[in-house]
Amino acid sequence: MIILGIESSCDETAAAVVRDGKEIMSSVISSQIAKHRPFGGVVPELASREHLRNIEPVVSQALGDAGVRFDQIDGVAVTKGPGLIGSLLVGVSYAKALAYGAGKPIVGVNHIEGHVYSVVFENPEIIYPAMALIVSGGHTNLFWIPQEGSYQVISRTRDDAAGEAFDKVSKMLGLGYPGGPAIEKIARSGDRNAIRFTKAKISDGRPDFSFSGLKTAVSRHIREHQIEPLADGKLPSQSIKDLAASFQSAVVDSLIGTMEKQALELGPKTLIVAGGVACNLELREAATKMAARIAVPVYFPSKHLSTDNAAMIAGAGYRRLKAGESDDMHMAADITMRLQNLENIDDELRKKKVRYKL
Ligand code: KG4
Ligand code: ZN
Repeated sequence: MIILGIESSCDETAAAVVRDGKEIMSSVISSQIAKHRPFGGVVPELASREHLRNIEPVVSQALGDAGVRFDQIDGVAVTKGPGLIGSLLVGVSYAKALAYGAGKPIVGVNHIEGHVYSVVFENPEIIYPAMALIVSGGHTNLFWIPQEGSYQVISRTRDDAAGEAFDKVSKMLGLGYPGGPAIEKIARSGDRNAIRFTKAKISDGRPDFSFSGLKTAVSRHIREHQIEPLADGKLPSQSIKDLAASFQSAVVDSLIGTMEKQALELGPKTLIVAGGVACNLELREAATKMAARIAVPVYFPSKHLSTDNAAMIAGAGYRRLKAGESDDMHMAADITMRLQNLENIDDELRKKKVRYKL
């Protein structure tokens, strides 16, 4: 079964052709980063306009690179949500027109489920129950996945997403956009123990994440230590490097610490770490060490599948199309789309799980 995937939820216009949910025949990503960089973040109006300009050439190139004609495609999978409304509308409308014109089935895919699927291409098969940490610019969630396609939320962020915190701190330090790669780069020559940031405490005791307090602590540190943001063409000072390294470690410790604690309690058979922030090497190393400690395999997508792409959308859509499911032409973009079957993890389930012995 050959699926054409289309992704336009934020600032990447992407199309991919995937065979049998596993083999990436082509994957084209047109990034708008350079267009948004002068504004220090994604400008929604600009993003929609760029998607409109790019969608046709990106889809044509994906078909061309895969060496298939559109009539050889068995179905279309498109990101339906969550995301920016103007951006989503371009992909959804284009995909519907394509599918309708050629009489092909179409499915709307949840972008976050796409990130979960990004690990299927280059890793051994996922054994369920699995636990997935999805960390990107818009989302930070820890999911319990009892079986393929069913999701329960273990942890969510109460405020900023992890990638958003990287982007905001990068802006404060004058390191530019996107913040994740910029902070990671200078953190390499900084001291991760230079500044001790206290971990956010969630008052109701749920294992949720919170990054806005950390962002405020960074801003206070900049003020109190009179750290000058990096000016164009200047080299970063040691205090900026130390701050970047300490901030990055605080984010990684919070994400992986929570994942380890929950994994020990719930006993997943596979761990998944995906989303744009999964490009971060310190996060990968910490997840790999944690997984070894608790003797559960951890799967990551490779770098080009970590950030937004359409192969993961085609992969997630394949499962539903193969089962004979499809959406009709009334399918609409949904900016706050939730995952199917999504509910908070059942406290009874926690009690039933056998604890791991270390
Ligand atoms: O998954 P993605 O491409 O888009 C969303 O769905 O949000 O993630 C983009 C986010 C940005 O916030 C970016 O700063 C972050 O991922 N990111 C990183 C790294 N590379 C990208 N964060 C930390 N370290 C990185 N190396
Ligand atoms: Zn994403």
